[in-house]
Amino acid sequence: MVLPKNFLWGGATAANQAEGGVLDGGRGLSNIDMMPHGAERKKVATGDKKMLSWEDNYYYPAKKAIDMYHHYMEDIKLFAEMGFKVYRMSLSWSRIFPNGDDEKPNEEGLLFYEKIFKELRKYGIEPLVTIAHFDVPLNLIENYGSWRNRKLIDLFVRYARTVLTRYKGLVKYWLTINEINILLHQPFVGGGIVFEEGENKEEVKYQAAHHQLVASALATKIAHEVDAENQVGCMLAGGNNYPYTCRPEDYQEAINRDREGYFFIDVQARGKYPNYALKKFERENLNIVMESEDADILAASPVDFVSFSYYSSRTVSAHPEDYEHTTGNVFGTIKNPNLPSSAWGWQIDPLGLRNSLNQMYDRYQKPLFIVENGLGAVDVPDENGFIDDEYRIEYIRQHIQAFKDAVEVDGVELLGYTTWGCIDLISASTGQMSKRYGFIYVDRDDEGNGTLKRSKKKSFYWYKQVIESNGENLSSKTISLSN
Ligand code: BG6
Repeated sequence: MVLPKNFLWGGATAANQAEGGVLDGGRGLSNIDMMPHGAERKKVATGDKKMLSWEDNYYYPAKKAIDMYHHYMEDIKLFAEMGFKVYRMSLSWSRIFPNGDDEKPNEEGLLFYEKIFKELRKYGIEPLVTIAHFDVPLNLIENYGSWRNRKLIDLFVRYARTVLTRYKGLVKYWLTINEINILLHQPFVGGGIVFEEGENKEEVKYQAAHHQLVASALATKIAHEVDAENQVGCMLAGGNNYPYTCRPEDYQEAINRDREGYFFIDVQARGKYPNYALKKFERENLNIVMESEDADILAASPVDFVSFSYYSSRTVSAHPEDYEHTTGNVFGTIKNPNLPSSAWGWQIDPLGLRNSLNQMYDRYQKPLFIVENGLGAVDVPDENGFIDDEYRIEYIRQHIQAFKDAVEVDGVELLGYTTWGCIDLISASTGQMSKRYGFIYVDRDDEGNGTLKRSKKKSFYWYKQVIESNGENLSSKTISLSN
């Protein structure tokens, strides 16, 4: 058997894309609730268009999402049926601290997640909990300027301490901040940042990043103090950059672009700023304010493991204008002519996953965890309502094979694998429902119509078999569709 017996197979979701119930149970509003479906979504995501309240004529998919707030018992039962060992989910910060700066947490919010964790444990499923997944309470954006303000460190730490203490014994695996590098590309999504006229955007982003990094290190410290069993990870929007040609300047560009993401993980995994980042601040005259104690805080609490999302590799060049471009997770890329693409233009590169695992393991020498991977596709139910999603099975099969090779051939230490959107949910980039990743179909469309009924796709039965065989049987010919 290639993978260890305790390999953590499962799936992943995030509160903002699944829960809905944004006004239920005393929850406050957050950045992501304000992300409209449609053409304006991108500008809001980048912080270039300010939308801090619901406006008429827009549809806000996060309001109801797939209403997991009311369906979690049913959903967890289905995860258990697939044999999940782990379920990655996130907490909604504003469900616990509705305004972000409240003195006391919202008990109803805390109870909601407690019930989820107990339900997961009933089935022997380990929760893997992201403390912040594209989530900042609206009040902190409106009245503090969000993560550009150092006060956010204390407020995040209070939130982290609350949940780490409350869920002691129920949750052991934690991620501090989802895809922390998204802050550089979609600052509103990654950090609730809306730019003011004339601001130095690069400076604001790296200042916010510094605050997130310090807050993440403090949360890691508290996690270890609360329970020595706790395992804390950082989380990168992954996928390495290939040089388009073997021209040295293209290779140099690939190194530089990889560093944009590694910057965060270098700090979180090694406990200090890399020299290339300090040089960048100096060269570009970015005045990043750091307090004297920050270096010690970062050094004292590196993460235990490194997690990342992987959908695709990227391709770069010193002369990007010469090439055709396509979309990708979080930000675009030059189109790699050697790779096929999904219906949304994201390129498909299973070997790139093995390469990423190797690069990161070489760099950090810490256990890795693939916490997102999957294919966003349009699913069309047949006359019986069944979805034969062999395309999704094929994508995931190839990626599983790639990480198995990284473990078996290269010796990478890998804790687990959670596919993204194991149940259909709202797409982060587009706000669509029709960009589906799930093993479980949810009857809801891009305009919010549908019964919300859950049904099993072919991939549901296939993944169940994959887990049962600990990744040994990846064939879809041997699956049973009977139950
Ligand atoms: C990652 C996020 O960016 O990729 C998820 O952590 C997101 O929240 C996922 O949903 C897939 O992206 P998209 O845009 O297809 O939903």
